[in-house]
Amino acid sequence: MRVLLIGSGGREHALALGLAADPSVTDLFVAPGNPGIASVATLAPVDAADPAAVAALAVELAVDLVVVGPEAPLVAGVADAVRAKGIACFGPSAAAARLEGSKEFAKDVMAAAGVPTARYRACSSESEVRAALDDFGPPHVVKNDGLAAGKGVVVTDSPEAALAHARDCGRVVVEEFLPGPEVSLFVVTDGTAALPLMPAQDFKRVGDGDQGPNTGGMGAYAPVLWAPDDLVMRVMRETVEPTLAEMRRRGTPFAGLLYVGLALTPAGPKVIEFNARFGDPETQVVLALLATPLGGLLHAAATDALAAHAPLEWKPGAAVTVVVASHNYPGTPRTGDVITGADRPGVIHAGTRRRDDGALVSSGGRVLSVTATGADLSAARSAAYALVDGITLDGAHHRTDIALRAAQGEISV
Ligand code: AMP
Ligand code: GLY
Repeated sequence: MRVLLIGSGGREHALALGLAADPSVTDLFVAPGNPGIASVATLAPVDAADPAAVAALAVELAVDLVVVGPEAPLVAGVADAVRAKGIACFGPSAAAARLEGSKEFAKDVMAAAGVPTARYRACSSESEVRAALDDFGPPHVVKNDGLAAGKGVVVTDSPEAALAHARDCGRVVVEEFLPGPEVSLFVVTDGTAALPLMPAQDFKRVGDGDQGPNTGGMGAYAPVLWAPDDLVMRVMRETVEPTLAEMRRRGTPFAGLLYVGLALTPAGPKVIEFNARFGDPETQVVLALLATPLGGLLHAAATDALAAHAPLEWKPGAAVTVVVASHNYPGTPRTGDVITGADRPGVIHAGTRRRDDGALVSSGGRVLSVTATGADLSAARSAAYALVDGITLDGAHHRTDIALRAAQGEISV
């Protein structure tokens, strides 16, 4: 099977490693890719958010499957354009990707499907925002309605900060705050059949102890051993199946990867957000533990054949990934700094590029996603942080507490 993967971040590097390891994948192309991905796949230049360009590339490369990594191409209709050429595509249509592309749309689907989630109000004027903040009380949660690359949400005790974020965004969703630890659950689906992957935990705040602003994610680990045993079955029953049914009822079935971001509240798991693609950096740890060949799984989901797919198999042990971020991230990151030590197995490239002289330099906020496995979380943590210690990048920062509380058994629901 010839496969084309679209994207250039850490998630795509992890997906490329998984696809390259699948014996049924004979040829792997990644567009546009990054220098880390170049060691496992053939790179091709493309504007990932241009549906016609991606579809033309898929035809030119004569691939059997296109896998779309990031949300922006999905929302732009890349999967529709690829399927219109008769090529199987793992990734939802533009209409279904609105589950991620519009917070208000997602909330509307959840309400229609009876999915447990935070109460909310969509607001477009300052007076509506003020009224909603008063109604729900602190901590205040204000979300940009559209795509914001992981930075659209502000959670704050300050009504002034909440109002300021709403002013910056225009149209927002104001929500009730959901207490409890967060878990990310990825579900592979063809629109009807659905296979959950292993839950993972992401670390959204920039600093140790969950301090500072939200980011795209500063690290992750799996498995989430402290979660209730029935978590996955319960979320499939209460959230995933009703959501997929509602999307079918609307005539826009969701096929691809449904990312369910959950808060495990005292009243049970509630949805914080849906995404229409694999999470980053959770994918790095989930795929590090997946024993089932990835290409076959994604191809089955892309061709309505998931119901006949074998149950997923997992490797024993645990995986941890630590994001190494640029100076000033999540503010405007400094780029162009030279990176050393990034050519080792487990060092996943997220925001890197090759300079004309061949040096590897940073090209984004999240630069590397340093991933290791081990017999348990403590062993995986030690291995990941040992790899981080071997990396140099001027001005870089990373969290030192990824998976620490879980490894110490300090998280409970
Ligand atoms: P989102 O982009 O919707 O995932 O939001 C980013 C982060 O903001 C989440 O991972 C949570 O940490 C936090 N967050 C979002 N919505 C809520 C909520 N209703 N209650 C508590 N925290 C939230
Ligand atoms: N790690 C959060 C996300 O991918 O949205």
